[in-house]
Amino acid sequence: MVANAEQAEFWASVAPTWVEIEHHQEGIAGEPGRRAIDCLDVRPGQRVLDLGCGTGPTTVELARRVGPHGSVLGVDIAAEMLDRARQRAAEEGVRNASFVHADVQSHDLGSDAYDRAFSRFGVMFYADPVAAFSNVRRALKADGTLGFVCWQNVTANEWMLVPGMAVTSVTGSVPALPEPGQPGPFSLCDADRVHEILAAAGFADIEVVPHNDVISAPEGDLPDYADVALRMGAAREVLMEADEATRAEALESVTAALREKVHDGQLRLSRGVLVVTART
Ligand SMILES: C[S@@+](CC[C@H](N)C(=O)[O-])C[C@H]1O[C@@H](n2cnc3c(N)ncnc32)[C@H](O)[C@@H]1O
Repeated sequence: MVANAEQAEFWASVAPTWVEIEHHQEGIAGEPGRRAIDCLDVRPGQRVLDLGCGTGPTTVELARRVGPHGSVLGVDIAAEMLDRARQRAAEEGVRNASFVHADVQSHDLGSDAYDRAFSRFGVMFYADPVAAFSNVRRALKADGTLGFVCWQNVTANEWMLVPGMAVTSVTGSVPALPEPGQPGPFSLCDADRVHEILAAAGFADIEVVPHNDVISAPEGDLPDYADVALRMGAAREVLMEADEATRAEALESVTAALREKVHDGQLRLSRGVLVVTART
């Protein structure tokens, strides 16, 4: 049994929706992901791990950067995500990317084998983060580098906060947030905690750089944002048992809340991330 069975079950259950809304996810995660890849200084010929690679957009990007003499291994705990990742790599003619269905925390990733380990929002879900990052450090070469991007607190991320609050105002129930330090999207939102975990896992030269910007989308995309907000994240949990009338009311409430964020024809929502790098 995998060490993170609950997360494995969760990600398997959201995978079909994740695949359906991948264009939307790119609008949210694309820019911070590229920023983190740039910080990692990936070079041609290198061997790279993509941790929690999901449906593989960054695996494909990394594979392009390392070129035909390098390779990338995407690791993910949800087989359903990897089905799409393999399809994407094939569609895009990428031959130097492969994928393994495994838990980063417990899978034998080898030792002294990779130049870089990367993740775009895929490393916040470990029950034992020190064990997981120790495993990654072991897999890296002596001069290897880890780089990832993770979320700051929800208050820095209106794209999650605004719809979440709007749904809560309808249902009256607050989504069950993980306890501090427990696996979840905000488990690495505190820079001190990131330092502590990575140092305990044996990493050095740890740098945690906050980056805050605004997601800007044409007003016409608002219905898409509202629809996705109900199908993913906290709202999805809260509305799991809801009847049709409640769902319709929630959609109306989210749409109204997002409309308040439209200025000059653009929907504008804050986004806050931490870009992390560390050396073996
Ligand atoms: C927020 S998604 C990010 C996916 C992808 N990196 C992207 O940016 O589109 C988190 C991913 O981490 C994976 N994941 C969670 N826990 C994991 C673990 N212990 N080992 C490997 N993958 C894991 C999930 O299955 C999911 O695909």
